[in-house]
Amino acid sequence: MRHFLNINKLSTKEMLLIIKQGHFLKKNYGKKFLEEKKILAMIFEKPSTRTRVAFEVGMKKLNGDVVILDQHESQLGRGESLQDTIKVLGRYVDIILYRGSDEKILYEISELSDVPIINGLTNNSHPCQIVADIMTLEEKFKDINKLKISWIGDGNNVCNSWIEAVNHYDFKLNISCPEGCFPSKKTLKESKSSHVNLFDKPSEAVKNADVVITDTWESMGIKKDKQKLKKFEKFRVDSELMLRTNKNSFFLHCLPAHRGCEVTDEVIDGKNSLVWDEAENRLYAHQSILLWCLENF
Ligand code: CP
Ligand code: NVA
Repeated sequence: MRHFLNINKLSTKEMLLIIKQGHFLKKNYGKKFLEEKKILAMIFEKPSTRTRVAFEVGMKKLNGDVVILDQHESQLGRGESLQDTIKVLGRYVDIILYRGSDEKILYEISELSDVPIINGLTNNSHPCQIVADIMTLEEKFKDINKLKISWIGDGNNVCNSWIEAVNHYDFKLNISCPEGCFPSKKTLKESKSSHVNLFDKPSEAVKNADVVITDTWESMGIKKDKQKLKKFEKFRVDSELMLRTNKNSFFLHCLPAHRGCEVTDEVIDGKNSLVWDEAENRLYAHQSILLWCLENF
């Protein structure tokens, strides 16, 4: 069964195929349909706008349909286990997306599910986002393998999935995070170490960068910590920081953005911001993931 659990669970061939199919879907919109109607169930234990809408619209446009379960309107909110829910859903639907906290639970449900599971974000990873992000960079650069990409901010889920992508490509990834917010040693150990460099100072990490990426300082479901937040003040992506990058560098952010915190209006609304293309590409990236999981290519 083809689960889409993490970037490092895909072979490089599979990763490149999913990206290629994403571009194809964007260019030849409407030419690809599911051979027979399939239903996607989505379980959200955390909020979502892009993931939810892009998967729903994407699935409907492929000729499929969607059901959505959240904590409040299903028996999950009254304590029915996720595991039991997954077993039941497998009798009704063809594929399931799960957004939750614990990565271990994601793997657990993939073991017992009768249908493919898509990782819609956990505290540790966000692989769907990376497919859209890579598509977005490929639209701007001839060869993304030659890029220097800088990650500034919190080294958690989206950053971890970027680190996993390094194993499929040849780009360099510079990561700068406040003390205590760097990606885990385990994640770093599993990546191509020659291609990932850690920096204490954002100004050093963005030197000659082609792409700067950031994310919220306060991720969903993570306990608010004022002391920790203070440490992020020096990690704001502003025009001054962008001046240190290569001349034609671009800015990415998975969104939602907290303007004035991790990024200034000037940068996110600037001419080198790709965030709206990036959000648009979620649609095609997710259609591609659905078609791959459902073995349509
Ligand atoms: N980037 C992203 O996953 O957005 P949502 O939380 O709105 O789905
Ligand atoms: N790191 C963010 C990503 C949101 C898409 C979060 O987990 O809230």
